[in-house]
Amino acid sequence: MTNQPQTIHPSPRLQGSLTVPGDKSLSHRAVIFNSVAEGTAVVSHFLAGADCLATLAIMRQLGVQIEQQEAADGSLTLTVHGVGRAGLREAEGVLDAQNSGTTTRLLCGLLAGQPFYSVLIGDPSLSRRPMARVVEPLRVMGAQISGRQSGRLLPLSIVGHRPLQAASYRLPVASAQVKSAILLAGLYAEGENVLSGKVGSRDHSERLLRAMGVSLTSTASLASEDGEIRMVGGASLRAIDVAVPGDFSTAAFWLVAGAIHPNAEISLRGVNLNPTRTGLLDVLREMGAEIVVGNEQEQAGEPVGDLLVRSSRLHGVTVEGAIIPRLIDEVPILALAAACAEGPTTIRDAGEMRVKESDRIAAVSRGLGKLGVQVSELPDGMIISGGAKLRGADLQTYGDHRLAMTFAIAAGLAVGDSTLDDPACVAVSYPSFWQDYAALAGR
Ligand code: S3P
Repeated sequence: MTNQPQTIHPSPRLQGSLTVPGDKSLSHRAVIFNSVAEGTAVVSHFLAGADCLATLAIMRQLGVQIEQQEAADGSLTLTVHGVGRAGLREAEGVLDAQNSGTTTRLLCGLLAGQPFYSVLIGDPSLSRRPMARVVEPLRVMGAQISGRQSGRLLPLSIVGHRPLQAASYRLPVASAQVKSAILLAGLYAEGENVLSGKVGSRDHSERLLRAMGVSLTSTASLASEDGEIRMVGGASLRAIDVAVPGDFSTAAFWLVAGAIHPNAEISLRGVNLNPTRTGLLDVLREMGAEIVVGNEQEQAGEPVGDLLVRSSRLHGVTVEGAIIPRLIDEVPILALAAACAEGPTTIRDAGEMRVKESDRIAAVSRGLGKLGVQVSELPDGMIISGGAKLRGADLQTYGDHRLAMTFAIAAGLAVGDSTLDDPACVAVSYPSFWQDYAALAGR
């Protein structure tokens, strides 16, 4: 797919089944954690999205040998030869995280514990995103970090320290990237690391660290964002094979598309159903969506299952509070579901959306507005009038993959053609999006 605007025609139906590409969060973590483990691990169904490929390239620059083979479905099977906790080496060049916040923030944590110099850079979107949230706690732990605007923005240069001082930190925002950065740094600290405050974000790092032999306890629960995580520093990680389950955040686009399209039945195989990620499933069901979960099992320490969604009649709801971190990446597509529901939907407490790959509150409001939806922006969310009759429009992605996919699905339901300015940006998390869309639409 070239970086040319794309015309999107309405799709009369959406039917079929797909195996969902690998979970982005887990793909990053499986490679980063296994890189500093003892032993060799095979990571299969690794997401070949641009974000995860950026992490892969950086781990290689840091001296980790990783072999890769492409599978028939486009995913990668990696053999990661762990170098152990002290085996990374200084890269000769800068480390380019491209568009990936997860790569940047997790690696800040890892590099804080390495006694060498590193420089992290990113694309224009990433270079506008807030980094103080990781830089501040890592400085307190002993890393020397400098960067633009006193370390609030990329590029960042890091001279790590070993041993670091154990973390004793109260998280002010529910961010899995910040939590994971501190845990990665905490592996290089002496004593017990204690994280309190808003630890109730996605918990893939905690699950993986435990499975790799690290002593870690957590009181996080779905009912509240607050809790406490304790992790003993100085532990060695045991390499572990990871068969990456499908990404719920990717499945989310088809869950909503299937629910709001009048002629749809979509089945999604092998989806990660980690409850810290599936807030959208709860909300869609509350809105009246017909979604069946089957074939539930465990894979790579995560709950996994198949999902079946059919055309449904949705009604508006209020979404706020502790559920927000469990669906933060899904708010753009949830806003589309709300636009097609009966009655208004209010989304609050989602101010974090303003500091994602784009200001998603502003961009979603603008795009849905062009499609004929009435949306009022709130500082931390939006109010969406339901019952919209979508009409084709010229839509702007702002280079943000999740907006591109949200608008593509909206355009397929609209009366008249639409255009999308940057269809190629979907490759950040879902390189086969357009092929899968064409297959479901019977094109
Ligand atoms: C991610 C955490 C989330 C999410 C992002 C991926 C991760 O951000 O938005 O797409 O893999 O840790 P936060 O750090 O704000 O939770």
